[in-house]
Amino acid sequence: MNAKDYFDNAAETWDSKFQNPRLLSFLEKLVPQFDLKQGQQVLDVGTGTGVLIPYLIKAVGPSGSVTAIDFSEKMVQKCKTKCAHLKNVNITVGNIEDAAFPAESFDAVICFGVFPHLENKRKALRNINRMLKPDGELVIAHALSSEELKAHHKKVSDHVAHAAMPDKAEMTQLIEQTGFVEIRIRDEPGCYLCIAHKPSKA
Ligand SMILES: C[S@@+](CC[C@H](N)C(=O)[O-])C[C@H]1O[C@@H](n2cnc3c(N)ncnc32)[C@H](O)[C@@H]1O
Repeated sequence: MNAKDYFDNAAETWDSKFQNPRLLSFLEKLVPQFDLKQGQQVLDVGTGTGVLIPYLIKAVGPSGSVTAIDFSEKMVQKCKTKCAHLKNVNITVGNIEDAAFPAESFDAVICFGVFPHLENKRKALRNINRMLKPDGELVIAHALSSEELKAHHKKVSDHVAHAAMPDKAEMTQLIEQTGFVEIRIRDEPGCYLCIAHKPSKA
């Protein structure tokens, strides 16, 4: 089974397994740290069933928008059912590695709970860099530290057992080499947060 099939199969029971009060209160505190502004255009990568969308919409307000992408059709179906009432949200099926949103179309790209699962991380980061406006923000986050994540994936399923966050040095190098600056990484129990920026235009 490939990763897309795994997530298609997991979509039906995803929320009952993984959305719990701890995660929701974590997101309540996490999203303000992205420092999003009213009116911004944000991309939610690997949105799954859309757990992050209400928090992002709150941060960008009615004049902003959230675009959500996931390569699992089943996850996207669930997400669309849950988010149908939300204005300024576009949900689409696609792989972030070759998603064809126009260049410089987003103020921020958020990868919550998805980065370890990306097959070609370098290709995905290059594409994200292309889609970000100058000075745009890249966020890579998880509700677990990188060490906790390894243990979690091993426990959850053989299909995701290999999925890991690169270590700090490797991650910094990868993000630098794909065109980002001002890289900050916090990796602690209960939270992984990496924030970086596309350089502003000279
Ligand atoms: C662990 S789930 C997290 C979902 C959601 N962000 C959450 O926290 O509940 C990872 C999601 O990323 C999606 N995904 C994995 N690789 C992807 C890729 N290359 N492009 C788009 N979506 C991807 C999967 O289909 C899955 O829905």
